[in-house]
Amino acid sequence: MSTERPPERIDLPELTLRRAVEDDAANLMKAVNDSFEHLQPWMPWATEKRTVQEELAWIASCRAEWESGLGYAYLLENPDGDVVGTAALHNRIGPGVLEIGYWVHAGHTRRGHATRAAGALTGAAFGMEGVERVEIHCDVANKRSAAVPPKLGYELLVIEDDVRTAPAEEGPRMRWGITRAAWERRA
Ligand SMILES: CC(C)(COP(=O)(O)OP(=O)(O)OC[C@H]1O[C@@H](n2cnc3c(N)ncnc32)[C@H](O)[C@@H]1OP(=O)(O)O)[C@@H](O)C(=O)NCCC(=O)NCCS
Repeated sequence: MSTERPPERIDLPELTLRRAVEDDAANLMKAVNDSFEHLQPWMPWATEKRTVQEELAWIASCRAEWESGLGYAYLLENPDGDVVGTAALHNRIGPGVLEIGYWVHAGHTRRGHATRAAGALTGAAFGMEGVERVEIHCDVANKRSAAVPPKLGYELLVIEDDVRTAPAEEGPRMRWGITRAAWERRA
């Protein structure tokens, strides 16, 4: 059955994706700040350590985006209840296409969390009405991020010119994509 919005919460054996609430602000801030040196090279927003107020503002903006359909952001939580990152479906490419973004806590990488989250969000995206393609974008230098989409059956659509937005980026951006038909064939 198609829905207008993705699920509020997705429970996987090793990872839960759920919408953040105000009470998450302090734990989210700690996860971001503990990961600062790992995020700062790649995430344009990671220019300074964050405050609880900034996390509260982020949570409020996610709520507004969710309501308007501009984007659907999730906290990633491991079975111990630790915040191990965030991931989101962004509605900013054009009709019928959603883009997935993610980051994982520096102390919880290489355990498949980004791949798991992106796989769950790809399935959630194709559960929504009118979504025909899902994309994952990353800078050509971001090898760890680029390792995620092919594991899920995404294909490299194009490498397009772009500007550097974070210190470790080279500029050109890889656009990985998967169609509804290809995802359903995999399933
Ligand atoms: C990119 C990122 C989200 C990956 O998270 P993760 O949970 O470690 O990812 P996964 O464990 O699902 O997969 C990572 C894969 O990258 C690959 N990889 C890891 N380190 C690598 C490296 N140094 N060079 C090339 N590939 C690498 C491996 O294939 C690994 O899979 P494996 O489990 O088979 O070893 C995480 O490193 C991160 O948060 N980076 C900083 C923020 C960022 O770059 N976000 C994405 C912006 S586009």
